[in-house]
Amino acid sequence: MSKKNMKKILVTGSVGQIGSELTMALRKKHGNDNVLATGRKTKPSETLLNSGPFEFIDIVKKETVEKVVKDYDIDTIYNMAAILSATGEEKPLLCWDVNMNGLYNILELAREYEMTRVFVPSSIAAFGPETPRIDTPQETVLKPKTMYGVTKVAGELLADYYFKRFNVDVRGVRYPGIISSETLPGGGTTDYAVAIYYEAIKNKRYTCFVKKDTTLPMMYMPDCIKGTIDLMEVDLSKLKHHSDFNLASMSFSAGELASEIKKHIPEFICDYKPDFRQVIADSWPQSIDDSAARKEWGWKPSYNLSSMTKDMLEKLGKRHEEGKL
Ligand code: SER
Repeated sequence: MSKKNMKKILVTGSVGQIGSELTMALRKKHGNDNVLATGRKTKPSETLLNSGPFEFIDIVKKETVEKVVKDYDIDTIYNMAAILSATGEEKPLLCWDVNMNGLYNILELAREYEMTRVFVPSSIAAFGPETPRIDTPQETVLKPKTMYGVTKVAGELLADYYFKRFNVDVRGVRYPGIISSETLPGGGTTDYAVAIYYEAIKNKRYTCFVKKDTTLPMMYMPDCIKGTIDLMEVDLSKLKHHSDFNLASMSFSAGELASEIKKHIPEFICDYKPDFRQVIADSWPQSIDDSAARKEWGWKPSYNLSSMTKDMLEKLGKRHEEGKL
């Protein structure tokens, strides 16, 4: 199909941490006009606005999504709109509403309009304290203790239900903490692993909200984008799983992250002042077994802690020098 006749892609949550970079990657791949960026209320960046179409919608209000589905002839949805773990504990009902009722609306529209494919992200937050924490298996105990985690488990089940019951080709991964240099994350437990880089560049000092020995699975944005698009493009016949792929890249403690940054910025100081997010972090795995993703669709990350840190500090350092950080 030529790019001109191609049906369109909708990205919800396109102003968010992953959505913003995913939208640009999809525009590069499929043509700017074929990728509709949407958000609920946050002002989009100039980069997003100037490179292709943008609309405000609210996934909780189905009619606002249906309008753009019709207007733009949407055929594929990446549903990146969500309330993350820390905000979810402060506003559990909002978290349920956006992550569940919003998802339900997206899946219903995909079914009604016979869309080709839907991407629905899950998270390491689907696991809980009873789950094995090292090399967490693909099939394991899913008893999260956060509202965010509850919506992620229910979301995986609902998405797989839509695949089985209605033939909607829904796909998804359990993202680890995502580290990136373009858009800050908001309201997550793994946000410290991004903020530490910004503060190291700006102030050479960071107060981390989890303990030094807190270890979580993490991933650099280029791998996150690649994995997301690769999963969406693989032939359906290759997949045994659909909405719940474990996805791993690297695991490190907050202290190890600080030491890696110190290799580049020796005067950097990190102190630790755990808050309510410590309990959430302690309920999540330290490392993930992602062999199903590797086997079924060829997942293979490229970055490790050292190459990611070098790249993050270079990018943020440059923006700081230009006075844009
Ligand atoms: N990064 C997310 C959070 O911290 C995990 O999916 O909430």
